[in-house]
Amino acid sequence: MFSLKMHFSWVAAFLLVLAQSSSVKSGKCPKVCSCDGTKLTVTCVGKNLTEIPLTVDEITLKLDLKNNNLQVLSRGAFILTPYLTHLNLQRCNINKVKEGAFRTLGRLVFLNLAYNKIDILYQESFDGLSSLKELHLDHNRVEEIQPGAFTQLGFLNMLALTHNQLVYVPNMAFQGLHNIKWLRLNYNSLNNLAPEAFTGLFALSRLSLDHNELQFFPTQTMTRLPEVTRLDMSHNPMTYLGEESVSMAKLTHLYLDHMSLQDLSDQALSRAPLLSHLDLSHNQLRYLEPLSGPKELASLNLKGNPVYCNCYMRPLRVWAGKGGVKLLGACAGPPNLSDEPLQDVVPLDLRCRSRGETLEDEFEKEDETTGSPLPTDKPKQKVKCPVNCGCDIESQHATCEGRGHTKVPRGFSTKTQLLDLRSNHFHHLPANSFPGTSQVVSLHLELCKVHEIEGGAFLGMKNLFYLYLSDNDLTSLDPRAFAGAPKLTYLHLEGNRLVQFPGSALALLPSLFVLHLEQNAISKLEPTGLLSVTPNLRELYLTNNTITATAKGALDSAFLGTLHLDSNQLTEIPTHALSKAPNLEEINLSQNSIRWVGPNAFKPIAQSLKRLYMDQMGMEKMSRDALAGLGPGLRALTVRGNQLEELPDLSPLTGLEVVDLQDNPLMCDCPLLRLRRWMENVSLEVIATCGHPPEIRGQKVRDVHVFTSCPEISSPSDKKVVKASRSPKFKKPKTSLLKTPGVKARPTKPKAKLLKPTKTKPQRKPGGPKLTKNKTL
Ligand SMILES: *[C@@H]1O[C@H](CO)[C@@H](O)[C@H](O)[C@H]1NC(C)=O
Ligand SMILES: *[C@@H]1O[C@H](CO)[C@@H](O)[C@H](O)[C@H]1NC(C)=O
Ligand SMILES: *[C@@H]1O[C@H](CO)[C@@H](O)[C@H](O)[C@H]1NC(C)=O
Ligand SMILES: *[C@@H]1O[C@H](CO)[C@@H](O)[C@H](O)[C@H]1NC(C)=O
Ligand SMILES: *[C@@H]1O[C@H](CO)[C@@H](O)[C@H](O)[C@H]1NC(C)=O
Repeated sequence: MFSLKMHFSWVAAFLLVLAQSSSVKSGKCPKVCSCDGTKLTVTCVGKNLTEIPLTVDEITLKLDLKNNNLQVLSRGAFILTPYLTHLNLQRCNINKVKEGAFRTLGRLVFLNLAYNKIDILYQESFDGLSSLKELHLDHNRVEEIQPGAFTQLGFLNMLALTHNQLVYVPNMAFQGLHNIKWLRLNYNSLNNLAPEAFTGLFALSRLSLDHNELQFFPTQTMTRLPEVTRLDMSHNPMTYLGEESVSMAKLTHLYLDHMSLQDLSDQALSRAPLLSHLDLSHNQLRYLEPLSGPKELASLNLKGNPVYCNCYMRPLRVWAGKGGVKLLGACAGPPNLSDEPLQDVVPLDLRCRSRGETLEDEFEKEDETTGSPLPTDKPKQKVKCPVNCGCDIESQHATCEGRGHTKVPRGFSTKTQLLDLRSNHFHHLPANSFPGTSQVVSLHLELCKVHEIEGGAFLGMKNLFYLYLSDNDLTSLDPRAFAGAPKLTYLHLEGNRLVQFPGSALALLPSLFVLHLEQNAISKLEPTGLLSVTPNLRELYLTNNTITATAKGALDSAFLGTLHLDSNQLTEIPTHALSKAPNLEEINLSQNSIRWVGPNAFKPIAQSLKRLYMDQMGMEKMSRDALAGLGPGLRALTVRGNQLEELPDLSPLTGLEVVDLQDNPLMCDCPLLRLRRWMENVSLEVIATCGHPPEIRGQKVRDVHVFTSCPEISSPSDKKVVKASRSPKFKKPKTSLLKTPGVKARPTKPKAKLLKPTKTKPQRKPGGPKLTKNKTL
């Protein structure tokens, strides 16, 4: 080492002399670095450098600056070393990569920025890296990826973003990564992925999403990944996987281990035909039915689940035997089969005590027999459980549903994760109603006639994620009602009698993500704004209240994506209430009484809006500029069941996948020619019916011939001309609005796939395993 340094300094000195004595161009080496002139590498590791050394030789290929103190990478930071192929900037205390920092590095193939303090990836942070194959951004503080951050990385193969602080992946976040094979997003705090989050990643074969906070399988998002063969979702808090949850044509390896799965539909994988390895280990599964879909399943891992080997497991065992599926894991019960490897259990030994025995019986019998001697050699583990409740220690599930309790029972096992108390008569929830339930994730209190919740009722429930207070009698909420439950993410308050938006109570819930307030009696939305009280709110459901007014800025929210205001009493589009809602993607305004939609009604949210529903509003007119600002981003537009005779120009909406114009009394005359042309042009089956003139009422717009006599459209200003030259055969109808006959033609051959409206709602409420199955085996 010492001699090497000597050697280098000697060479450097020699070169310096040489450089001074002649004009021969020679390798430079910054004095704190070591340089290898043959391999063209420069290493300046752990020197507390605050600047990139200026004297690095231009022809350097590999530059290692690990362990320095660079802090900010400014624009053109590497302009002096354009031939770099490898750049290591690990642990350099970098907090900001300015736009254009790497712009000159068109030959770079490997860039390591791990273990820094980067929080935002700007739009042009990685511009110019057109040859880059590997990008390491792990162990930073990334919480935001700006649109277009990766657009220039068309050759990237691997992107590591593990160990960051991502909570949400927006649509098109990875746009431009056409060649990426492996995307690593594990060890973040992701709880939501936008439906188009991974759109455009056509080569992606492996995706790592483990160690996040996903509570539901992101079905729709995953369908956008046609080539993925390996998906790692382990260590996410999912409780249930519903039908067709996994719809991935080429998937072979799926890791769903170490989650909180309590149930899995037998159809969950019905759209994953090539699946060969499924890891369900370390969940809470007691039973599993044979899985439909995968034809080539080779292994199914059920280790670490409380699998109960009775008759309900027999179909799985038989199916696995026939299909050559290797079952990993062992029985957890009954006692004479416990620890028996699933692979070795003989199907005939998988029995229930009597024909028609339901699971419920079994649970209850176990409860009854706890404490009393059992006719087996292994003593049964005693379950701590209040009187008149059922508790299952293995699934960490306790239920006292509909048992006539008038006070919240106490004495649940401290390990309980799901507590189901629905359909009792609590009326009043005093402070500290749930002592010793710090592990409870999901609490059901629906239909409990609750009219008052005292401040601190949920104190100590520090892991509570889901709270169901639906269908109670609440008229208001104490500002401290939710104190002590700071992780609350999904809150159901629908079906109460709240007269105000419970803003002050919600201010204690920084993680609130989805809020259900349907069927209450809220009549106005105050000007306080949502942003201040619930900064992370993503979905807000206010369907079926009595909202007549929305104050300016009332719905401003940085993060809000879904807003349902349908079935209220709004008389105008709440444009001014949404002046700052830059991420709003879906708004439902159906069933209000908004007769007129004026110009620029959606302008403030036009950049983000994807789905706009305005059915059955008694709408008579839309201004020609009603949809101004909306463009290719809009995916769904419905105005069904209104009184519209005309529609604004829809041709800028080139991204529509769903459009519903049915049940409007359209005036089939020359002004409608533009719509007709548009209908002919788009690859969507658009159903629209003529309401006027009377001769053709009820006919479909695309079938009528009245347009043949209309002059072709040339510019929007020729409307008057068109009117003037209208074929005399039609009389102008009376102003009275004629109701369209109920023509409800079905599309015969839909050309484009109609998307179901997106919802991030669970396919089923996470209510744990069904306790009864009416099946006899
Ligand atoms: C590194 O540099 C910073 C300022 O440039 C200085 O405050 C710090 O003491 C240095 N650390 C070491 C280990 O030399
Ligand atoms: C297990 O015990 C049950 C009765 O408790 C009995 O019917 C069954 O045959 C036993 N199974 C085996 C494999 O010993
Ligand atoms: C609105 O709520 C009432 C009861 O609160 C119910 O009868 C009605 O069906 C609901 N309407 C819609 C559209 O959900
Ligand atoms: C929008 O609201 C209407 C009326 O309440 C409802 O029927 C419809 O299903 C809603 N659409 C979506 C996509 O939420
Ligand atoms: C039909 O489509 C073409 C190209 O897609 C476009 O240029 C034209 O404006 C469209 N016409 C109408 C009436 O939408």
